[in-house]
Amino acid sequence: MFCFCVLQGDLAKKKIYPTLWWLYNDGLLPEDTYIVGFARSKLNVQDIRKQSESGWNRVIVEKPFGKDLESSNKLSEHISSLYQENQIYRIDHYLGKEMVQNFMVLRFANRIFGPLWNRDHIASVVLTFKEPFGTQGRGGYFDEFGIIRDVMQNHLLQMMCLVAMEKPVSTSSDDVRDEKVKVLKCIPELTLPNIVLGQYVGNPEGKGEEQKGYLDDPTVPKGSLTPTFATAVLYVQNERWDGVPFIMRCGKALNERKAEVRLQFRDVPGDIFQGQSKRNELVIRVQPNEAVYTKMMTKKPGMFFNPEESELDLTYGNRYKDVKLPDAYERLILDVFCGSQMHFVRSDELREAWRIFTPILHKLEQEKIKPLPYKYGR
Ligand code: BG6
Repeated sequence: MFCFCVLQGDLAKKKIYPTLWWLYNDGLLPEDTYIVGFARSKLNVQDIRKQSESGWNRVIVEKPFGKDLESSNKLSEHISSLYQENQIYRIDHYLGKEMVQNFMVLRFANRIFGPLWNRDHIASVVLTFKEPFGTQGRGGYFDEFGIIRDVMQNHLLQMMCLVAMEKPVSTSSDDVRDEKVKVLKCIPELTLPNIVLGQYVGNPEGKGEEQKGYLDDPTVPKGSLTPTFATAVLYVQNERWDGVPFIMRCGKALNERKAEVRLQFRDVPGDIFQGQSKRNELVIRVQPNEAVYTKMMTKKPGMFFNPEESELDLTYGNRYKDVKLPDAYERLILDVFCGSQMHFVRSDELREAWRIFTPILHKLEQEKIKPLPYKYGR
């Protein structure tokens, strides 16, 4: 028999009882352990229970977080009347993906990228999301939101923040999120000349579903102008990125499934290889087949002395053969249990994201701007 005597007080409440609970939870306490509490004040077991292991409340909110700045603010105000910000976990599941979490490590744990990560060396950044299927019966939901709200304003913008932000003071949740908010504040709202929209139509040469267009989905309202594809250019007006286009492309019913970030470097100045040197690119492929690779010039092997484009390739399937990557939600839900908010969207981040996109969304809807047709699978 083990007898554990605990003097009731602040330490017992904050440390000893929680520790005993974790030991019990991990199966490390011997079975016949007795915990005996004693105190100067008059206490019974009920009182001790009330004072210790009070638990916590954390609420997980999944997008859509409103439809525009106003509705999102309303929702945020309502949730914050019920919970503190440190209890609210707004999920953008892209923040739970392996390669999206890798952005910060690649950038801030390597010396080679830091000095090049700016407008002097990078010509453009392209962020891509492609899906090879259409709305698949989700037309009712999708039609109210469209591709800008469904993917661009959240998944692509979050990835952009991680590419563009400054190095946070530490990896604590709020230090990281502070930097993301600062980047968002430097992005002017998106305007009409900087966006192109599309809506898929059936492809007569395609198979099965591919022959049906967005408007053929019975859950989509007739004549809907909701875009299923969008490409937009954003700028970050700060010292690091001024003038560098961040090109976002996202769409459904395209030719493949792909999410990636591609940084294109500037031309080699004073090229001595008669214009044969192509621009370097750093590609972070989020899915499928997670990879980081750099497109670079190398001497064509053999009896040659001319440059040839090749790749420094870190494809996870080759390098980490036996590693099983957890699903994004698996990581994020574990983070909620652990109380880590780094990979969740803070309310000020959300507000800034809507500030950038709300004016164009309203304009498109008020002026009934028609998206361009594109064939399923193109
Ligand atoms: C969701 C969108 O947030 O992300 C869907 O609402 C989209 O339209 C999905 O299909 C894509 O997620 P993933 O993880 O499959 O790339």
